Amino acid sequence: MNQKPTLTTTGGAPVPDNQNSITAGPRGPVLLQDYQLIEKLAHQNRERIAERVVHAKGWGAYGTLTIENDISKYTKAKVLQPGTKTEMLARFSTVAGEAGAADAERDVRGFALKFYTEEGNWDMVGNNTPVFFVRDAFKFPDFIHTQKRHPKTNLRSPTAMWDFWSLSPESLHQVTILFSDRGLPTDVRHMNGYGSHTYSFINEKNERFWVKFHFKTQQGHQHWTNAEAEEVVGKTRESTQEDLFYSIEKGEFPKWNFEVQIMPETDADETPYNPFDLTKVWPHGDYPLIHVGTLELNRNPENYFAEIEQAAFSPSNVVPGIGHSPDKMLQARIFSYADAHRHRLGTHYEALPVNEPRCPVHHYHKDGSMHFKSNGCPVDAYYEPNSFNGPVERPDVAEPPLKISGDAARYDHREGNDDYSQPRALFRLFDDGQKSRLFSNIAAAMQGVPQEIVDRQLKHFELVDPAYAEGVRAALNAS
Ligand code: NDP
Ligand code: HEM
Repeated sequence: MNQKPTLTTTGGAPVPDNQNSITAGPRGPVLLQDYQLIEKLAHQNRERIAERVVHAKGWGAYGTLTIENDISKYTKAKVLQPGTKTEMLARFSTVAGEAGAADAERDVRGFALKFYTEEGNWDMVGNNTPVFFVRDAFKFPDFIHTQKRHPKTNLRSPTAMWDFWSLSPESLHQVTILFSDRGLPTDVRHMNGYGSHTYSFINEKNERFWVKFHFKTQQGHQHWTNAEAEEVVGKTRESTQEDLFYSIEKGEFPKWNFEVQIMPETDADETPYNPFDLTKVWPHGDYPLIHVGTLELNRNPENYFAEIEQAAFSPSNVVPGIGHSPDKMLQARIFSYADAHRHRLGTHYEALPVNEPRCPVHHYHKDGSMHFKSNGCPVDAYYEPNSFNGPVERPDVAEPPLKISGDAARYDHREGNDDYSQPRALFRLFDDGQKSRLFSNIAAAMQGVPQEIVDRQLKHFELVDPAYAEGVRAALNAS
């Protein structure tokens, strides 16, 4: 048998006894000088950090992104050049539940990817849905409040959810997905991922293209009905964690086809819908999917807390060749995530091993919590400009100017916006069985909601398709 290592204090000194406190006599009391006991209790008191305000329950693994197709005419990003294989981390999540929530719940799934590229980290922080409930970040905190607990009852409130949705018709598309079969995937291997927002690609000639990212499951889609999920939760609250962890342990590595839709920059002025509106997809008929490569997950983390709980994803992490877009929601997210990480993890959260870029990092940020090591600058170069060979900017990676126009104002995003056509296209994709489950899932979620709110929501379903409203009405009457 191998020699066991010596147990030490966090200061590295050997611990003589890890079973018995120092007491005055065998019956106690304990002496304050037992700093080893104090250290143990103090560490336990600090074992929890703030959970994510949304997407608190999550599951993660490492893997690789391999590029198989040549899309260099659209992007110069090194991570996307043919033949490139990049190490990455994925974290999947539910949105509303707390860190201890059951996995098999009807909810959107987060699909967050961090690619450790040679030009810095590229984070693709998406969902398993191509659209979202709101299109202006002003409404995001309100929307999330309806998904979390009521201030008095401390219970989830169907009334709050349907009140908000029925007053926000832009939510119809995502609501239809949420209550369809795909709203309750059996696990994360059997679902797609979407960047959802429109991003930019920038090529070597510094031309911009708009792009949407898709990750299509190679495992096929699998979902649970509400009744099946209830049974699963009765047996295990950790069904997704078990599925992902043990699939990878067994060598059954989940894979996704990585695909993009590309829109030439000037098309954005001509599409009948706003291509920067997060409640809309780009129809495949107009912008077909282009195969780019394969995403594979093949390694479990060694330490869940260090590598998954402390993982910090942010849409602000882009690399040369990939940029943002005028999507209002995306711009709010560029601010919100790094702000959340500084609060949840600490100022220098990017120095944690799981978040640390796998390329040289040189910056002029100084001091603050979690400042573990040098910021990569020569010792005298702690300000800029300097004469001591400190790091300098690289103008060649500047994005081309973005053409914008218009007067600054708070424009009504609901005015003249068609919230019904795309949910209609989705509704008409469903077969009879899918439609009937959609109706009963919605009716089940509306239990106890005041009639006035139900009627307001039914009017929206009516505008999508009379059969949609009719089906939900019948399911409500039957329940
Ligand atoms: P297409 O028929 O070309 O594409 C349909 C898309 O819908 C496919 O991506 C498919 O994903 C997905 N899909 C199929 N069945 C379901 C389902 N039961 N629940 C959710 N998604 C499903 O049509 P369009 O591109 O014109 O889009 C029509 C509608 O499809 C849209 O309004 C939107 O609601 C939905 N959709 C569109 C996407 C897009 O990017 N255009 C992406 C996802 C959904 P898969 O191939 O994995 O089966
Ligand atoms: C997590 C904000 C919209 C996907 C988070 C977190 C915040 C946040 C603060 C917690 C971050 C952390 O503590 O680590 C917002 C805001 C939004 C928004 C302000 C709108 C303005 C979206 C959208 C998507 C999305 C549209 C998907 C397309 C995710 C995912 C996570 C997350 C996947 C979990 C990341 C992880 O696994 O660590 N969001 N969000 N969010 N959000 Fe959003």
